Amino acid sequence: MHQKNTIIVLLVSLSSLLANGQLDYNYYSSCPNLPMIVRYGVWAAMKNDTRIAASLLRLHFHDCFVNGCDGSVLLDDTKTLKGEKKAGPNRNSVRGFDVIDNIKADVERACPSTVSCVDILTLAARESVFLSGGPNWPVALGRRDGLTANLKAANENLPTPFEPLANITAKFAAVGLDLRDVVALSGAHTIGLAQCFTFKNRLFNFKGTGQPDPNLDSSLASSLKTSCPNVDKSNTNLNSLDMLTTYQFDNAYYKNLVNNGGLLESDQALMGDPQSAAIVNDYSMYPYLFYNDFSASMVKLGNIGVIMGQNGQIRRKCSQVNL
Ligand code: HEM
Ligand SMILES: *[C@@H]1O[C@H](CO)[C@@H](O)[C@H](O)[C@H]1NC(C)=O
Ligand SMILES: *[C@@H]1O[C@H](CO)[C@@H](O)[C@H](O)[C@H]1NC(C)=O
Repeated sequence: MHQKNTIIVLLVSLSSLLANGQLDYNYYSSCPNLPMIVRYGVWAAMKNDTRIAASLLRLHFHDCFVNGCDGSVLLDDTKTLKGEKKAGPNRNSVRGFDVIDNIKADVERACPSTVSCVDILTLAARESVFLSGGPNWPVALGRRDGLTANLKAANENLPTPFEPLANITAKFAAVGLDLRDVVALSGAHTIGLAQCFTFKNRLFNFKGTGQPDPNLDSSLASSLKTSCPNVDKSNTNLNSLDMLTTYQFDNAYYKNLVNNGGLLESDQALMGDPQSAAIVNDYSMYPYLFYNDFSASMVKLGNIGVIMGQNGQIRRKCSQVNL
């Protein structure tokens, strides 16, 4: 009798825990193949497009910084919903939506109406890093898809490469991330590409001086000028964020910064503050320190403002809220 009561109490507290919501490593125990389906989807996409790992990692970041990790970045505009895809930092810039849609379709075939789009995106970001040669970390699941998007917050809360480090750290602090998270997560720029307009001011006329940015290595500056000549037509040309190993997730990003080789002004700015510069130096020397910190910061990123329990929904299609 006593034992039976204890079991009932345990079950009741367990179910209320789940209803209140709590991310859980075994959340989708009814969908044991989920991690492998996502891994395969990212792997297949990378076979076709080496850049896609970088794009998926960035998509997760842009999701979590706006309304929390809720899949809001994935939503298309409708008559009643203004999506985030047209926000300044996203328009003609973020990519990977088809890959998430394809993985979602595979997951729906295996486990119908079970797995949220935001959890798929969170797993895809982890796989993108791991399959690019970076660290692996456990991802707790149970995030639910949001019912809205926030275009204004996408325009205001995402960091831009044109603002000083203090402004960027303020935007991170607003979602509970500290300076160490800023430095570690900026290491995502060890993979992927950026368009010329995101750094061209550093090549020709830095802050109205008519001179290049003194904190940009001069031989890197001259090679960037061939890709980004001083004409508007070059604005969308693509360049490696890390020219040493563009698609390899490693600590070369930090080695570049130590040598004035950061592509974005906001990257190189991490060397302009003694506290962040000390962390950059450490990461440039100790790749496993970077991997550990990056993994921990990715977990923090993936926990921002998550919707759990009975709130939100499991979208059927990632680009639209269920009717
Ligand atoms: C710290 C402030 C940050 C700023 C100012 C910033 C800015 C940018 C810019 C301007 C681009 C190029 C976009 C384009 O040319 O279309 C870019 C690309 C990228 N960002 Fe960031 N970013 C920041 C932080 C992050 C974080 C935290 C992550 C992920 C954890 C991330 C992941 C990426 C990746 C992987 C790319 C390459 C995407 C691709 O090739 O498709 N960034 N970022
Ligand atoms: C392959 O990648 C390109 C982008 O580089 C994309 O346009 C195309 O849809 C991808 N194809 C498949 C089958 O995923
Ligand atoms: C940085 O933040 C300050 C204070 O919020 C703001 O006035 C300034 O315009 C921002 N700078 C840039 C370049 O965005």
